[in-house]
Amino acid sequence: MSAGSAGPGESALRGVEAVVLVGGRGTRLRPLTLSAPKPMLPTAGVPFLTHVLSRLRAAGITHVVLGTSYQAEVFAEYFGDGAALGMELEYVVEQEPLDTAGAIRNVADRLREQDVVVFNGDILSGVDLHGLVHTHRHHSADATLHLVKVDDPRRFGCVPTDADGRVTAFLEKTDDPPVDQVNAGCYVFRRPVIESIPPGRPVSVERETFPGLLASGARLQGHVDASYWLDLGTPAAFVRGSADLVRGAAPSEALPARPGEALVLDRAEVSSEASVTGGSTIGADCVIEAGAAVTGSTLFARAHVEADAVVERSVLGAGARVGKGAVVRGGVIGDGAVIGAECELLDGARVWPGVELPPSGVRFSHDC
Ligand code: GTP
Repeated sequence: MSAGSAGPGESALRGVEAVVLVGGRGTRLRPLTLSAPKPMLPTAGVPFLTHVLSRLRAAGITHVVLGTSYQAEVFAEYFGDGAALGMELEYVVEQEPLDTAGAIRNVADRLREQDVVVFNGDILSGVDLHGLVHTHRHHSADATLHLVKVDDPRRFGCVPTDADGRVTAFLEKTDDPPVDQVNAGCYVFRRPVIESIPPGRPVSVERETFPGLLASGARLQGHVDASYWLDLGTPAAFVRGSADLVRGAAPSEALPARPGEALVLDRAEVSSEASVTGGSTIGADCVIEAGAAVTGSTLFARAHVEADAVVERSVLGAGARVGKGAVVRGGVIGDGAVIGAECELLDGARVWPGVELPPSGVRFSHDC
């Protein structure tokens, strides 16, 4: 990402700053999130948060406050004051997690502008931020929500809007949702609305703040945008998002190489008789031996895939090892874990850091 002007064809958004929420424990991504918070997990060669920040920067938003809690210190250690990205980053730490709206309220004294874009720190999104802010200002909204249409809205709470795009309700998950549009985890708030959130206690933006605003007659606007959108909260979504970034299907200004079938990072050794495809990332100092096939997977630094092994739609943590002829499909292998030769790991199985599964030919479909 280059420091300087806004992205191609875009003017900088004026009078707008951003808050990114990065304090969650990321329990669904365990064991990967035991060693790093979800927004810091290596994704297409850089910590995931870099992609989010690159989108903000491309829209000309340069002042960003990060709401941190879980492993709070690692964000500042990596990103510092943000100058390398052409941004000004600030960090606010919650001693106890304050949930989403509590976290937004907790950074209020760092805000300077009238309009504040808020992003969940685990969303990969091509939303047009100019369009989102335009909708917000055009309707003089108190808050504007990016909404996405999904194939199966039963898995989400849905957000109906009227003919003018005004939000009419926040509905819990149901088997028969009346609309297919859901909250995409990205909002614009008027700053006084942020200041009206009760301070110092956990508050959920979806369960408390938005329904409360609606009940009080505030104007909540929906902004439907059909660009790329993915919540990287689960292992399956994480590998998909990473592969989409590597192949250029997901938007980012922070990809460290040109889009392609694979991203091979520094000093990784990939045998000429191995195949690495489907947007896989091979982390620094990894080894992929002859006959191995890695597809649609993310390998953190120093992972090792031995000869004739198959790794599909999976994440291998730092220093993890997959033995000769082993098969890992849809698996999450913790840092330093070892999958013995000829073992087979089925979809959804997770191996905890440091666990060693002996060579056996056994099939594992559960957590180990
Ligand atoms: P799971 O435990 O797997 O549900 O993940 P999570 O903890 O990240 O929760 P969730 O995906 O619902 O969070 C959405 C976004 O809000 C993520 O970017 C989180 O980092 C962030 N977030 C969630 N809870 C808090 C909190 O208490 N404080 C802060 N600062 N951010 C939070």
